[in-house]
Amino acid sequence: MLNDLLCPLDGDPLSLKDASLICQNGHSFDLAKTGYANLLPVQNKKSKDPGDSKAMVASRQSFLNSQAYQAIAVKLDEIIKQQLNLAPESTNELRLLDAGCGEGYYLSHLEMNKNYDLISSVGLDISKWAITAASKRSKSLSWLVASNAHLPMPENRFDAILCLFGFPVWSEFERVLSEQGFIIIANSGADHLIELRQVLYPEIRPYKAPNYADIKGLELVSTQSLRFNFEVNTNQELMNLLAMTPHMHKAPYAGLKAVEALTQLSLTADVTFSILQKSEMDEVLGEQNLCLS
Ligand SMILES: C[S@@+](CC[C@H](N)C(=O)[O-])C[C@H]1O[C@@H](n2cnc3c(N)ncnc32)[C@H](O)[C@@H]1O
Repeated sequence: MLNDLLCPLDGDPLSLKDASLICQNGHSFDLAKTGYANLLPVQNKKSKDPGDSKAMVASRQSFLNSQAYQAIAVKLDEIIKQQLNLAPESTNELRLLDAGCGEGYYLSHLEMNKNYDLISSVGLDISKWAITAASKRSKSLSWLVASNAHLPMPENRFDAILCLFGFPVWSEFERVLSEQGFIIIANSGADHLIELRQVLYPEIRPYKAPNYADIKGLELVSTQSLRFNFEVNTNQELMNLLAMTPHMHKAPYAGLKAVEALTQLSLTADVTFSILQKSEMDEVLGEQNLCLS
C-alpha cells in the first residue's frame, strides 16, 4: 500500500523492500511494527517531538471514540460524495490524502463507510504518536509521519485532500493535487464550542473567518456549514475535549480551573467546510502563454 512515495532526503522514488522503503541512493526508512513509515528527517523537524504530544493524541482518541463528533464525519462523507458526483467523469475511486490526520478517526470512518473506494489513500501527520494510534485503526490505509510542509509524494498524486482543523500548506497541497481534484478544509465556525469558551475566557474575541482569496493556484469553490448540539457528561470527557483544542494552551489559568470543576456541559459544534480546487484563472493564463509562444 505504501506506494508512490518520494525520499524526503533527495526526492527520488522509494520502493518497498522487505520492511523498508529505499531510494536508489540508499536512503532507507524502516516501517514500524504497525506498518507506518516515518518520512520526517531530523533536518525537517523544528522540535524533537513535533505535532501533538502522546497525551493530546490519547485525549483526542478518547473523545472521538465517544462519537460526539460523528456528525462531522458523516457530513464530510456527504461532501465527498457530492464532489464526486460533480466531477465531469463520474468515478467511484478516490485517492485521498488526510493531511494532519491526527489519530485517524475521520479517514478510518470514510474508509469503513465504503461510499466510494479509497485507493492508495494516505493519512499523514507530523506527530509520531498520532500516526502510531492511526496505524492501529486501519491496516488497509497507508499512514505516514511527515510534514505538510514537505509532502513526500509526486505531483498530481491525489484526487482529494482533507485538512481538518489542521495546518494547510497551500503550495504543497496544490502540487500533489490532480488537475480535477478538490481540497476540503474544516475549521471552527463562529460559535464552535462557544459554551466552553464562555467558561474559559472573560471575553469572547470576535470571529475571524479564514481568507482563501490570495492562494496561488487554488480557489475557493464553495462552503458548507454544520451545526449541532451535544452533551459532555463527565469531567474526564470535558478535559479530553479541552486538550484537543488550542484553548488548552491559550486560556487563562482561572478559566482552565473553572473547566476543571465542571462535570457536565451542553455544547454547540459549529464547523465550516471550505472546498477549494485548482484555479481556472491559472489554466487560462497557461493556455494564453501556450498560444503566445
Ligand atoms: C487539531 S489536530 C487535528 C487532527 C485531525 N485532523 C482531527 O481533526 O482529528 C491537528 C493535527 O495536525 C498535526 N500537525 C501539526 N503540524 C503539522 C504539519 N506541519 N504537518 C502535518 N501535520 C501537522 C498535529 O500533530 C495534529 O495531529
